[in-house]
Amino acid sequence: MTLTAPDPMRPHEECVHLPGGFDAGVWFIGRIRTPWARREDCPKRGDPENGPECHIEVDAPWLSALAGVEGKDRMQVLYWMHLSRRDLVRQNPCFDAQSVGTFALRSPLRPNPIASSFVRLLRVEGKFLTVWGLDCIDGTPLVDLKPEFGVLP
Ligand SMILES: C[S@@+](CC[C@H](N)C(=O)[O-])C[C@H]1O[C@@H](n2cnc3c(N)ncnc32)[C@H](O)[C@@H]1O
Repeated sequence: MTLTAPDPMRPHEECVHLPGGFDAGVWFIGRIRTPWARREDCPKRGDPENGPECHIEVDAPWLSALAGVEGKDRMQVLYWMHLSRRDLVRQNPCFDAQSVGTFALRSPLRPNPIASSFVRLLRVEGKFLTVWGLDCIDGTPLVDLKPEFGVLP
C-alpha cells in the first residue's frame, strides 16, 4: 500500500527520518468493512454499546483460527491504519499552542500504525464477524483478533 502524499504537518509538530528497513513483517489477515469512506467521516473512537454495525472479514487461510470465537461477547480488534504517516513524534491534533508526544496520544499517526478497539461481537457468519465499536474507514487491513481479558482474580 502506498501513499500519494503524506498529510501536511500542523504547527508545533515534529517528524523524524524513518529507518531504512523493518525489524519484522506483518500479514494482513482480512479487512474491516465500515460505513465510512473517509477518515474525517469516522468517529474518533468506536462505540461498542450502540454501533453502528461493522463487519470484520477474515481471509480464507485464517478461518480455522475463528473456532471458539462465536459466543464471545467482546473482542479486541487490532488493525493497521494504512493511510497514516509514520514519522510524527510530536503531534497537534487540535491545533493547540503546543504539540504532544505521539505515545501520549491514541492518534492513528504512529511509527507502527496499529489501532486497537474493544468491540461487542454480535454474530459470526462464515468469514464475517459483525461487531459494534470500530472507528476506521472501509477496507482498513485487519492485523489480529483476541478475546477481551477475563476478570483477573
Ligand atoms: C483516533 S484513531 C483511534 C483508533 C483506535 N480506536 C485506537 O484507539 O487505537 C481513529 C481515527 O483514525 C482515523 N482513521 C480511520 N481509519 C484509518 C485508516 N485506515 N488509516 C488512517 N487513519 C484512519 C480516523 O480519523 C478515525 O477517527
